[in-house]
Amino acid sequence: MSTPEQAIQRPISVIVPTYKEAGSLPTLLDRLAALKSRPGSAALEVLIVDDDSCDGTVEMIADRNEPWVRLIVRTEDRGLSPAVLCGLDEAQHDVLVVMDADGSHPAEAIPELDRALSNGADFALGSRYVAGGSTEDGWGVLRWINSKIATWMALPFTRALDPMSGFFAIERSTLQRGTCIDPIGYKIGLELIVKCQCRSVVEVPIHFSTRTYGESKLTLKVQLQYLVHIVRLGRFKFPRLSSFIPFAMVGASGMAVYVGLLALLNYICGDVLPVWLQIIMAVLMTMTWNFYWDRRLAFWDSRSQSIWAQYAGFVSVCAIPVLLTFFLTWSFSASTDLPLAGLIGTTFGSAAGLIFNWFGNRFFIFKSAH
Ligand code: GDD
Ligand code: MN
Repeated sequence: MSTPEQAIQRPISVIVPTYKEAGSLPTLLDRLAALKSRPGSAALEVLIVDDDSCDGTVEMIADRNEPWVRLIVRTEDRGLSPAVLCGLDEAQHDVLVVMDADGSHPAEAIPELDRALSNGADFALGSRYVAGGSTEDGWGVLRWINSKIATWMALPFTRALDPMSGFFAIERSTLQRGTCIDPIGYKIGLELIVKCQCRSVVEVPIHFSTRTYGESKLTLKVQLQYLVHIVRLGRFKFPRLSSFIPFAMVGASGMAVYVGLLALLNYICGDVLPVWLQIIMAVLMTMTWNFYWDRRLAFWDSRSQSIWAQYAGFVSVCAIPVLLTFFLTWSFSASTDLPLAGLIGTTFGSAAGLIFNWFGNRFFIFKSAH
């Protein structure tokens, strides 16, 4: 933990995103003022980035009239992450700290975060889960489980123990390394760790306090946004794997679709249509199903050709496994039920197609946009 006397070593900009935090802000500003007035402290500016809370925040800041506190009121694109990015953009100093307004994050740990950066870290996190860190009692089991699952989902991206923390510090030069920063939801810290390619993430233990005023804005919508965020980070950091896994899953769904279609066709028009035609119809429909989902989920980043050219390419790349499926289904259909024959056919066809089709499609048809 930081010692009370530790002064701020370098000029720092503190970014505080707020939404309806008029009740909490005075205490936070008092704590930051105390930090700023420690003997020998370098400059400190605070940027409050408020999403038009209309709760007296504007008046309160005006009344306090502190020249080192700036208020930015945003009226569009509401959200925690865009607010933080806006603050990072407007900040004047080269050491950037982001923290909550509600008193959960101890302002007194800021010098320690800065020190971690000076000592060579790319990113410094105020952490609850590192030795010496803690969380105030009163977190329900549910919120705790929630936080653990979210942290676990971040494992492929960072070794940090508390990457969910909204209390962190980064230098401007590191921030400028970031490409495709695409804020969604709450986890702007995790986004920056990944997109700015932060290798050395140092965690500074903090005590995470429960807010006294107002309420948490961590809604279900925010939690769903987190899932989307994890998928986007996966696509950024592991583009091949993030393409292959959905491709394999779509392939498995296609097997079920194929067998289901054969059963349906056989049931509806088994007496009228020859078997080979039923198989061809099922094959074509399944291929279209796979194409639709693969294009959306596995080859999301390909914008190279028209959809029709992609469809034609997809069909030609799939030709060999598709023919295998067709002929196996056809030959087995002589001795067994059509759906069962289809299952045998699609099992071999899909196994053959899994690697071959993915490579063919990824590198020849759906060429990656970047
Ligand atoms: N500008 C803006 N716009 N600020 C927002 C918005 C928004 O839409 N939503 C929330 N905030 C601000 C809040 O006013 C607060 O200062 C901060 O963002 C965090 O919001 P809380 O509602 O207090 O979040 P929390 O307590 O549930 O989440 C905290 O813990 C998480 C880890 O469990 C935060 O520290 C998160 O950053 C952290 O990830
Ligand atoms: Mn909070």
